[in-house]
Amino acid sequence: MTFFRAENLAINFGGIRAVDDVSFTVEKGEVFTIIGPNGAGKTTIFNLVSRIYDPTAGRLIFEDHDITITPPHRIAEIGIARTFQNNRAVRARHPTAEPTAGPPCEPEVELLQRAAVSAVGSAHGNRAP
Ligand SMILES: Nc1ncnc2c1ncn2[C@@H]1O[C@H](COP(=O)(O)OP(=O)(O)OP(=O)(O)O)[C@@H](O)[C@H]1O
Ligand SMILES: [Mg+2]
Repeated sequence: MTFFRAENLAINFGGIRAVDDVSFTVEKGEVFTIIGPNGAGKTTIFNLVSRIYDPTAGRLIFEDHDITITPPHRIAEIGIARTFQNNRAVRARHPTAEPTAGPPCEPEVELLQRAAVSAVGSAHGNRAP
């Protein structure tokens, strides 16, 4: 029994075929990786495996069960999950920032900005704001 098998996976986004005829197997305990240039379709494959996307063609087999149309919440229940390249769910924003003041300000950036202003102020003999 193969632990996990992707067979001839494909998905189209409009006219773009993001994944085209991709097949691979993963054995239990194996560390398996997918490499390729930017835009090659790696993330899309993970989204297909975790059933966030429906494949245009192909099948997903987990422990001899066809999970090609299994809903994502069931996929999580059977132990298949993905993580995200950018795992920051909510961007921090300084509470006093004006909505039109530019992009959201990270706390570290805010701290660095204050430090920079303080340093410039000190260099000019002024008190830091
Ligand atoms: N939801 C979507 N709608 C339309 N096109 C998409 C969608 N998701 C991915 N694509 C397109 O599919 C192709 C593959 O994208 P994907 O993000 O899977 O590549 P990747 O190999 O993960 O790239 P990177 O190394 O930059 O993370 C790209 O052309 C991308 O623009
Ligand atoms: Mg990616």
